[in-house]
Amino acid sequence: MKQTSDPVRIGVLGCGMISQAAHFESCQKAKNARLYAICDAADDLRTRMTQVWDPEVAYRQYDEMLGDPKVEAVIIGIADQFHVSAAIEAIKAGKHVLVEKPLGVSVEECADLLKVKRAAPELVVRVGCMKRFDPGIAFARRFIEQEMGTRLALKAWYCDSTSRYTETGNLQPLILKSANAKRPEGNPKANRQSYYLLGHGSHLIDTARFLGGEIARVNANFVQKYDAHCWFVAIEFEDGSVGHLDLTLAVRMGWHEGFQVYGEFGTVVGKIFNPWYLRSAEVECFSLRDGQFKRPLGEDAHFFRLQVESFADAIRGKDDFPAASAEDGFAAIQTLRAIQLSASKKEPVAVADATGAI
Ligand SMILES: NC(=O)c1ccc[n+]([C@@H]2O[C@H](COP(=O)([O-])OP(=O)(O)OC[C@H]3O[C@@H](n4cnc5c(N)ncnc54)[C@H](O)[C@@H]3O)[C@@H](O)[C@H]2O)c1
Repeated sequence: MKQTSDPVRIGVLGCGMISQAAHFESCQKAKNARLYAICDAADDLRTRMTQVWDPEVAYRQYDEMLGDPKVEAVIIGIADQFHVSAAIEAIKAGKHVLVEKPLGVSVEECADLLKVKRAAPELVVRVGCMKRFDPGIAFARRFIEQEMGTRLALKAWYCDSTSRYTETGNLQPLILKSANAKRPEGNPKANRQSYYLLGHGSHLIDTARFLGGEIARVNANFVQKYDAHCWFVAIEFEDGSVGHLDLTLAVRMGWHEGFQVYGEFGTVVGKIFNPWYLRSAEVECFSLRDGQFKRPLGEDAHFFRLQVESFADAIRGKDDFPAASAEDGFAAIQTLRAIQLSASKKEPVAVADATGAI
């Protein structure tokens, strides 16, 4: 393949919340990419976003954007139920793909996507687990790999907050909505359990796997009281270490997300912030070797922009950051489905055995 250092020309599918709050700006700010095209079925949104973000072209139809030979890569920022079909279309059109999390909504459709992706090894296909680009979390991962020795245990929690919409509303730009937006049939968000597992659980599982490795088995408890949902999950990692995950929506306090990892030569403790602050996680890594804590500053924590820059570098063949691959996206969906099955059957479930839709 011809190598070039030109900025990667990206087409963003979807002009909804995530593109308005993250992807358009990230493509325009990235040092090695540009917002070449945008696409949305809703004319009002697309027209307004074209005025604000100034892409070279705007498409109403996704297949027309995919047919544009100048589009090298797509970012897919549409409803979860549409991710797999949109990603498969893009791969078949020869485009690199960064698809928002979760990869899909069922184990089977994600497996189909993996098959299509494996038939096109020259393409970069990633999932938008942008927390991996949080410099604090990335630092923790390097410490665990390079200094912590054998892993013993991991705890991770993702607890949405009763003040979340106040904070998020203050931090994000004003989000333009459209009555003409293309949405899945029915209202998938009405099933709160599925919506929380897919939308929020996907972040928790990715952080746990990023820092703790492959999850082999889960034993989940689920409780719903007042308007809150809580999953407490005992997990076993493939390397024999143990863990505990807490997915709670919503805790009666501010955003509460973090992790602890215990190893042979060190311990890692991390506090993660509401992502819209673009603030690095506060991470402390204690090393038994020198008796000291290490704590990164993480001054550049625009993880959505860093995610685009890493994607563009990977497309140009010069990136080795452990971003979330399609395989990671598949594993997250299978783990979430295993948690759902385990909670309903009230018994442990091997992740590899989980099938079906969340
Ligand atoms: N990474 C994160 O932390 C994070 C945060 C929020 C949302 N998300 C994810 O982003 C995704 C999108 O969420 P959103 O709230 O922006 O969605 P949204 O429904 O607000 O916007 C999607 C837009 O895409 C358009 N669209 C859908 N299918 C299309 C098609 N085939 N052709 C043309 N236009 C099409 C719709 O018209 C709509 O305007 C979801 O998967 C969500 O989970 C991720």
